[in-house]
Amino acid sequence: MARKRVAVLISGRGSNMVALIEAAKQQSYPAEISLVISNEPEATGLVHAQSAGIATAAVDHRPFGKDRAAFERALHILLDDRKIEIVCLAGFMRLLTSWLVEQWSARMLNIHPALLPAFKGLDTHARAIAAGAKQHGATVHFVVPEMDSGPIVAQGAVPVLAADTEAALAARVLAVEHKIYPLALKLVAEGRVQIRDGQCVIDGIIRPNGVAPDFQ
Ligand code: GRF
Repeated sequence: MARKRVAVLISGRGSNMVALIEAAKQQSYPAEISLVISNEPEATGLVHAQSAGIATAAVDHRPFGKDRAAFERALHILLDDRKIEIVCLAGFMRLLTSWLVEQWSARMLNIHPALLPAFKGLDTHARAIAAGAKQHGATVHFVVPEMDSGPIVAQGAVPVLAADTEAALAARVLAVEHKIYPLALKLVAEGRVQIRDGQCVIDGIIRPNGVAPDFQ
């Protein structure tokens, strides 16, 4: 079966993007990373993508001012031109309008550094520590108009330790992110994930919390 053409949207260092690029180096992986787009022209992730030989584009949001629709049309045209089939948001720090989200309905994934539905939004690690959470982690989910919501494809948990700093917890979570994003993209690219009543059905089984990192 032809490998799915994937675009990764980033804003910064792009370590999740690198994890996806590494996974896609295997010929048996069902997706290829065909394009990386950053809204930050100086994003270090763009350099990594270029050195991996992947087409990149910088679409700076600033010249568009408050015209989010025009910014998103520019993104959409690029995605369309490159015949992208699945979009992976990976540290992409722009909220998307429902227009773009609807264009990519059931074909756009995001990774969030928390066990959704807990800790939507920013500063998830500090908030997990402050809340006394015993567990924390990361989630890959389909993107829907409401932020950090949408059917969950994969989730990985880590313990929160008594001595944890925000940085220590972030590093533990990031290691899980780098496992679950390639896993989730694989499942979606293989057509093994359906969405029913706002939940993922994976290999025919309803999985409200998605699958865990060791899922095959
Ligand atoms: C990750 O923690 C991701 O979960 C969040 O933004 C961060 C991006 O990191 N959405 P990187 O750019 O992939 O290294």
